[in-house]
Amino acid sequence: MEPRDTPLSARPRRDTLASMIPSCQELVARLDRSVEAGSVDAITRCVKADLEDLLGRGAVALPEVFRQARPDTYARRLLHRDPRGRYTAIVMTWGPGQGTPVHDHGGLWCVEGVVEGQIAVTQYDVTPAGGDEFAIAARDTIMAGTGTAGRLIPPTDYHVISNALPDSPSLTLHVYGGDLCECQVFMPTANGRYASHLRSLSFHE
Ligand SMILES: [Fe+2]
Repeated sequence: MEPRDTPLSARPRRDTLASMIPSCQELVARLDRSVEAGSVDAITRCVKADLEDLLGRGAVALPEVFRQARPDTYARRLLHRDPRGRYTAIVMTWGPGQGTPVHDHGGLWCVEGVVEGQIAVTQYDVTPAGGDEFAIAARDTIMAGTGTAGRLIPPTDYHVISNALPDSPSLTLHVYGGDLCECQVFMPTANGRYASHLRSLSFHE
């Protein structure tokens, strides 16, 4: 008999990976419940509590593939995409010195939790500065360690995340209120202002 390819329907879908990781099944069950909490404020409070509880007691054990830092940029890997489109859960792995530019989340709410290590989160005020340019001012920086989580709610969600550890990776888990395909990033211009660009987002591995 000729060897046959595995039927598409029998293959694990990339967006159901979390359901195959025993330690992530409680995470998905909790998030499924929390995204039904009502308002964005209520949902993000519930998701924040979920992440602080689960990550705080080490209840999300990620497979090795999620732990690999990349030399060129921070790694961004899909853990779970809600089949009903209500949220996605994404793991990011930050090598020493890696971080983001100032960015938003395309209008989606987000809750970010620290799985391992320590990250710095700086929030920014962004104001039009004439033409296509913007002025950007740092508001405050939070140093976040394992088991802590923070909410980012539009329209005041401009921020930078970076690894605060100088010699080892940090891992974070981000829950977005939908499928984040592109975001707005702000890059410095020659005159000290910033220019806005749309950045398409994809997943590693
Ligand atoms: Fe972000």
